[in-house]
Amino acid sequence: MNLARRTMNAPALAAVYERIWRPTVFYLATGRTTDADRRFAVESLHLGTSRRVLDIACGPGNFTRFLSEHVSADGYVTGIDYSPPMLARALADNAGPRAGYVRGDARRLPFPDESFDAICCFGALYLIPDPLVAAREMIRVLAPGGRIAITTSHRPDNPIGELIRVTAAVSGLRMFGGRTFPDLFAAAGLVDIDQRVHRFFQYVTATRPVAGTAGRAADRPAASGRGV
Ligand SMILES: C[S@@+](CC[C@H](N)C(=O)[O-])C[C@H]1O[C@@H](n2cnc3c(N)ncnc32)[C@H](O)[C@@H]1O
Repeated sequence: MNLARRTMNAPALAAVYERIWRPTVFYLATGRTTDADRRFAVESLHLGTSRRVLDIACGPGNFTRFLSEHVSADGYVTGIDYSPPMLARALADNAGPRAGYVRGDARRLPFPDESFDAICCFGALYLIPDPLVAAREMIRVLAPGGRIAITTSHRPDNPIGELIRVTAAVSGLRMFGGRTFPDLFAAAGLVDIDQRVHRFFQYVTATRPVAGTAGRAADRPAASGRGV
């Protein structure tokens, strides 16, 4: 297990993740506050009309419970993560009547096809050994008409980006190019693909079309970097 994955499994990190680690590290990486990221989540996932929501790699539930307060009247948010210390914190700090937690691997989601109306995976794909497998799993369990939102690393398409990529790889973090996820989403037939870059992070959203509305070339955003 590499350094990044060991860190995510450490009880000490789980204890400080929501209040100290996330606000500090993600602000440095993105220039954005946790509140801004929560607003992004609610808006991009169309939560007001989503009933079944999945928060992949939910950590200590720092988004899961917040999302559960914004779902439709009979909505429910499931958080899934593989780290027992993170899930213990989620149960202690972020339980709620419309939020629940499952232990599992993002690469083999224990859910049937098309079972969620909205799916997010924030700040985790760069930790997962097979991130594209995990991204395809997200799409598999997304219902037609459903929304998907990810935030993950982004490396600039220049020598500094290459230096960052090599340095991050030493600790087990992957720096993605700008085309990886927009292209993967487009190839899977998703539409309304939008990508924003904030410092060393990219925010990518898309919709799984209902039958007959898939696959227009215009749904691909402009290139902003290289592949994986
Ligand atoms: C940086 S935290 C992100 C937590 C939260 N989503 C956020 O944005 O603040 C990354 C999480 O990904 C989880 N994770 C990494 N690989 C995973 C996998 N293969 N399956 C499920 N969870 C995974 C880790 O356990 C950790 O809790």
